[in-house]
Amino acid sequence: MPAELSPIDKAKFVAAKRAVDFVEHGMKVGLGTGSTAAWMVRCLGERVREEGLRVIGVPTSTRTAELARQVGVPLSTLDDVKWLDLTIDGADEFDMNLALIKGGGAALLQEKIVATASDQMIVIADAAKEVAQLGAFPLPVEVIPFGWQTTKALIEETLVSMDVLSRDVTLRMNGARPLITDESNYIMDLHLKRIGNPRQLALVLNQIPGVVENGLFIDICDVVVIGHADGLVTVRDINAGSEHDDRIEFAASENIFRDMGD
Ligand code: A5P
Repeated sequence: MPAELSPIDKAKFVAAKRAVDFVEHGMKVGLGTGSTAAWMVRCLGERVREEGLRVIGVPTSTRTAELARQVGVPLSTLDDVKWLDLTIDGADEFDMNLALIKGGGAALLQEKIVATASDQMIVIADAAKEVAQLGAFPLPVEVIPFGWQTTKALIEETLVSMDVLSRDVTLRMNGARPLITDESNYIMDLHLKRIGNPRQLALVLNQIPGVVENGLFIDICDVVVIGHADGLVTVRDINAGSEHDDRIEFAASENIFRDMGD
């Protein structure tokens, strides 16, 4: 086991490693964004290089595309492949219904489009991402830059009638300037603390002109793979209503750690 990996990275790695077992020859696979998804891309690259696995990846961000190229995962675009067999991605929070908050990495728009265009979505996460109720993690909402202050005011007004515990809305910054997404938009972070009705909130937010998409993923995720630092992984399938544990050996993956550039 590589000594330099933190417990949280070990948990993310084993979740990613187990999820990549779901990828079969010939599949078209949506590649998520974030630190957990980065492990998945590395593990997939390892299978492509060592087993000759034939896959086509569709990345959900420029940084995922860059990593996929580095590790040898062949890429295409959603417009070329149109529909995917599987998407594997991380999440900021998930609940017992596998409703998610995503967008901590500012890639929620492409992530939602890609996951929705997939037969199956698998979320990979460390155990700390599981919550009884969504909302402790600020909810990202992608908005167009034009009139963003008006859009922010409309979001704040909308939140007054929603079942949430707090209503602070902040523009995500990148240093002194607003953070710009891959689609040239801004991100608002909604500090809600608790979201009583995620389905209603997701629908209402998307009614606001200027809102492009929100980070609530409802009825999109099918399976969550939860990783633990000791190598234990729990695979929970919401459609089958099943859950089982597996164990991942770190030693078998030493090539990945050796090849890591970041
Ligand atoms: C990216 O926009 C997000 O949706 C990520 O999937 C989410 O933030 C999880 O990221 P980590 O795996 O880095 O925690």
